Amino acid sequence: MRQPPERVQRLPEQYFTALLARVAAAAAADGEPLVDLGRGNPEVGPPPHVIEALAESAARPDVHGYAPFAGLPALKEAIAARYAALYAVELDPAREVAVLPGTKTGLMEFALCAVERGGTIVLPDPGYPDYFSAVALAGAEVASFSGFEMSGDAMYLNFPTNPTATAAPEGAFEEAIEWAHRNNAWVMHDFAYGDLVFDGRSPQSFLAADGARDVGIELFSMSKSYGMAGWRLGFALGNAELVQRIENLQEHAFAGIFRPVQEAGIAALTGPQESVEERRAAYERRRDRALAVLDGVEARSEGTFFVWFRLPDGVTVEQILVERRVALAPGEGFGAGGAGWARLSLAVTDEALELGLERLARLDAL
Ligand SMILES: Cc1ncc(COP(=O)(O)O)c(C=O)c1O
Repeated sequence: MRQPPERVQRLPEQYFTALLARVAAAAAADGEPLVDLGRGNPEVGPPPHVIEALAESAARPDVHGYAPFAGLPALKEAIAARYAALYAVELDPAREVAVLPGTKTGLMEFALCAVERGGTIVLPDPGYPDYFSAVALAGAEVASFSGFEMSGDAMYLNFPTNPTATAAPEGAFEEAIEWAHRNNAWVMHDFAYGDLVFDGRSPQSFLAADGARDVGIELFSMSKSYGMAGWRLGFALGNAELVQRIENLQEHAFAGIFRPVQEAGIAALTGPQESVEERRAAYERRRDRALAVLDGVEARSEGTFFVWFRLPDGVTVEQILVERRVALAPGEGFGAGGAGWARLSLAVTDEALELGLERLARLDAL
């Protein structure tokens, strides 16, 4: 076998691919049907008007060629209007919005467009595993966030946080903006779970903080707010220079996004919004239920569709998978700071959650 280039060698094992393979192997083994609380995959799709918009668009003869590489201007206007209405952020759709084939792509593109090879990127630890992959691909070095006194060339922020389900702490964005100025660095805020906050909190866009767009961008995903994870649609918003770099990279690497997906995206962003609140409320209700059942366990969730909880000493997610037939996401895969913790997904049916929680009783007896 030939040696792959260094940039490919640097890529870590893909956390979710490996997790899915372990869960599939466990599911195939003899025993009770497995309850999968490991994956963060929205259990309910988008509302009917979005699917109708996709179908109507796809039935037209003129939509099957290449769409404009940089995305439909009307889609950029639709996300800008959402930002103005929901987060009090005014954006110039032509200069401050890039359309992405899902924000996962944007995580990579930000690292490639913001940081020189050998630079340092500060990541949350525990944090979303693909951030580590982005740093590896960019030939940069990871520094785990330990406070704003550390130095670096870029910083990834993510509130509410996957996996720790933490809402943005007061003043965090302002501190990050000051940090960026002091270090002549860029900031990327991953807002994938932005609308999914609990206990009366309102969504907090990074771009609503003073001066945010001077130092960075925010990634907004259609996956969680609208249940469109498989559709692959998201946005990079904010700093015009970075947005331009990302669009430029995309014009070299991709040839736009299927027009019916973009038109359905417009329908999602501009049509009735009740489903967003219904989804958020369902996750909050399940969060309440999970925290009540996990009574006595150190567990938390201020947003996202996850609960983050501490495992009893010596108990592993692997053991829970085999002995209780419940899949969870192991904390250590999110960085060294996640060791001894596990992430439980609420993006499942009420019945699956109930069964899973029942099986998680008395973990200390394992
Ligand atoms: C924190 C975080 N960022 C980004 C993504 C990627 O989302 P998208 O579906 O927009 O690529 C996810 C998906 O699970 C996520 O959890």
